[in-house]
Formats: sequence, C-alpha cells, structure tokens
Amino acid sequence: MTTRREFLALGAGAATAMSLPHGWFEGQGSRTLRILILGGTSFLGPHQVAYALERGHTVSTFTRGRTRPSIHAHLFDEVEQLVGDRESDLEALRGRQWDAVIDNSGRNAEWTRNSARLLADSVQTYLYTSSTGVYYPYLGDDIGEETEPALELPPDLAPGDDGAYDYGIMKARSEAEARAAFGARRTIVVRPGYMVGPADQTNRFAYWPVRLARGGRVMVPGRADDPVQYIDVRDVAEWMIRLCEAEASGTFNAVGPSSDTGMHQFVHGAHATFASPAEFVAIDDYAFLREHGVRFVVPWIMPIDNEYGSARIRRHKAVEAGLTYRPLADTVRDFHRWWNSDAVSADRREGLLSGPRSLMAREPEILRVWEARGGVSAPGAVLPSSARH
Ligand SMILES: NC(=O)c1ccc[n+]([C@@H]2O[C@H](COP(=O)([O-])OP(=O)(O)OC[C@H]3O[C@@H](n4cnc5c(N)ncnc54)[C@H](OP(=O)(O)O)[C@@H]3O)[C@@H](O)[C@H]2O)c1
Repeated sequence: MTTRREFLALGAGAATAMSLPHGWFEGQGSRTLRILILGGTSFLGPHQVAYALERGHTVSTFTRGRTRPSIHAHLFDEVEQLVGDRESDLEALRGRQWDAVIDNSGRNAEWTRNSARLLADSVQTYLYTSSTGVYYPYLGDDIGEETEPALELPPDLAPGDDGAYDYGIMKARSEAEARAAFGARRTIVVRPGYMVGPADQTNRFAYWPVRLARGGRVMVPGRADDPVQYIDVRDVAEWMIRLCEAEASGTFNAVGPSSDTGMHQFVHGAHATFASPAEFVAIDDYAFLREHGVRFVVPWIMPIDNEYGSARIRRHKAVEAGLTYRPLADTVRDFHRWWNSDAVSADRREGLLSGPRSLMAREPEILRVWEARGGVSAPGAVLPSSARH
C-alpha cells in the first residue's frame, strides 16, 4: 500500500516541510489520524486535543493520571486516556499503533529515547515539543534553526551558573534522541518560545492581562524598543496538529508575534483589550530595575548578557510551514476570562495580587522610589539597546 508520504514523494511537487501543496495547511488532511500525546492534560495538551478532535482525528493521551485539564475538560470523554509513567512504565504503549506521537512531557532525554525507540516501528511521525531554550545563552541578533544548540555544559562555566543551561541542554539532547530513533524524515521538532494563553500553569504572563484590566498607574519595565516575543499556546497546538497531518519533518522555531515588536507596542496592544483608563510609567533604567528585582515580566526579559537575544529568534521557517498567529487582543481577552473562571483557584489569583513574590504588590513602592528620584534614568545607568554585556 502506498502511504501518503510515498504518494506525495512520487508527485512532481514532492512535499517537504518547506514546500507543501498550496492550500495544504488551510484544509483538513484527507484522512483521520490516530494521534498519541505523551502528556496532554496541562497547558499545551488540551488545546491540541480540542483542535485534533475538531479536525476529526482520534486522540490518546499518556500520563500518570494526576494532572487534570483546566480547559476543555469535557472533551476528554472522547479521548483514550492511557496511564503509565515515562520514568518507569511504558506498558500501555506497547504493541499499539498510531499515525503520530506528540511528545509534550519530555523532561529528560532518556524519557524521549525510551518512548521514541518503543514507538519507532509502530508510529509514522514523532513530534518532539522542544523549546527556544536550546539556544541559551542567547547571544545572537537573529537566531535561526541552523544555530547549533549546546549538548554539553561549557567547560569554563563559573560555579553555580550551570542551572540556566540545564533545560536547553536537556531539550537539545531529547531532540537528538527523537531523530536517532525515527530518522530525520519522520521527526518534527518544534521549539516554542514563551507560550501564553488560557490554561497557563505559570503566572509568568498573567501579570499583564490582570494588571492592565485594573488600569491606573502601570509600571512598564524596559526600553520602548526592547524586543518581545510570545506566542498564543493555541497557535502552537493547532499548527502542531497540521504538521502531523502533513507528515512534515524538520526543526522549527515557534515564536510570535507575526512581526518584530517592541515592549511599548506590546503593552499598548494588550491594553487595547480593556476599557480601563491607564497611565503608563516607563522605567527604562536596567540598573534600577535590577536593584528592585525586576529582570523579566514575560514577554519582557531584560535584553542583556546571556538574555540579549532571547526575543530575537527567527520565525520565518515556521510561518512558511503554516504557523499562523491570532491577534494579541484574543490572547489577552481569553486568558483574562479563563483566569477569572472556576478553572483558576482563588488562592492562585490572590497570590498574583498580593503573594510574597507578587510584583503587583511591590509595584506602588517601585513607582514611588522611581518618581522620588525624578523618574529619570541615573546618568550612565541605561545601557545602549545594542549592549550585550
Ligand atoms: N510553557 C511554555 O511557555 C513553554 C515554552 C517552550 C516549551 N515548552 C515545552 O512545552 C511542553 C508542553 O508542556 P505542557 O505542560 O503544556 O504539556 P501537557 O502535555 O499539557 O502537560 C504535561 C503532561 O505531562 C504529564 N506527565 C508529567 N510527568 C509524567 C510522567 N512521569 N509520566 C507520564 N506523564 C507525565 C502530565 O500528566 P500527569 O501529571 O497526570 O502525569 C501532563 O499531562 C513541555 O515540554 C515544555 O518544556 C513550554
């Protein structure tokens, strides 16, 4: 029997991830897929489940059965929920067949090696959910997929500095394990940057929708043109399903928005979601921000030193392969609705407003100190925007 991959390869316009038939990504694939998601019940997973079911596919998830989805929970009645443990028990996957596996829950390279080897003869495509963290330290101006990620810690690392490298190295090694088991032509690696949107289990981005909805005097850290990158989790989830439908292969950054964006543009765009009157107080002095413990408020990350290029990651290859972006207003509005729904506990909401690490709780005092010194940068304190070190 000719598989769809072989069929496409026979045609004059042999399909690769970069040259798929016109309109391929807009339409549903011609057959339904059996998709296995390793993970699937936390942040990215439920959005993949919702889109895959909408496109007529069948979905199995593989988890320990501990994490419950905080969005689309009702859809899980239609999902085959396999139970096991990536650390020690893959029995539920043995002897089964799927068209595609999406590995969301890779937390170490050995997990990916074991699942990829087990599934290599019974699944067509392995999609590994990696991260732009593989590029750490972010030293470039325009970081593309061809940039070789580090697979080992640098030998000259200062003691205590290794923690920042661990995640990226783990992800890069895991990518290599997936490719080793499935081969480059059956492996898709997607490297998302900061994913934001409903069901986020971190409070990294929550600050902006919640703070901007309240209005008033709003602290805006960073310089106006500090680059920011973020992507709606649903744009990543849905594109991943379409990549599986296309039996694509290759490595792709998944960052947004669709065009280069500075911090002030982001804040004004996000605030446009709400009717709350706001006055923005820009604090552009990195040294002052550092003194007050404000090094990042995602999507803003102080773009210096090893973080210089963290929001300077190239998006074009993914866009050519069908990645699309919804408007920022949709992301902010939908996150805000989810945050204020029963899906989020009152404790979590309270923690963002007044918990011990709450930036919102510290904001009035930071603004007071900033304004007491005239609201201007101390001479020499602001680094030039191109400074890396
Ligand atoms: N969030 C971001 O901004 C961001 C950015 C770049 C990359 N990423 C990557 O994106 C991926 C998506 O993460 P997600 O949390 O959204 O994925 P998810 O698939 O929605 O959830 C993670 C899943 O892993 C399962 N799991 C955890 N430990 C397990 C184990 N030992 N055995 C089996 N299953 C286990 C959890 O269920 P149980 O607890 O029930 O086992 C849960 O279903 C991650 O690989 C992350 O590194 C995230």
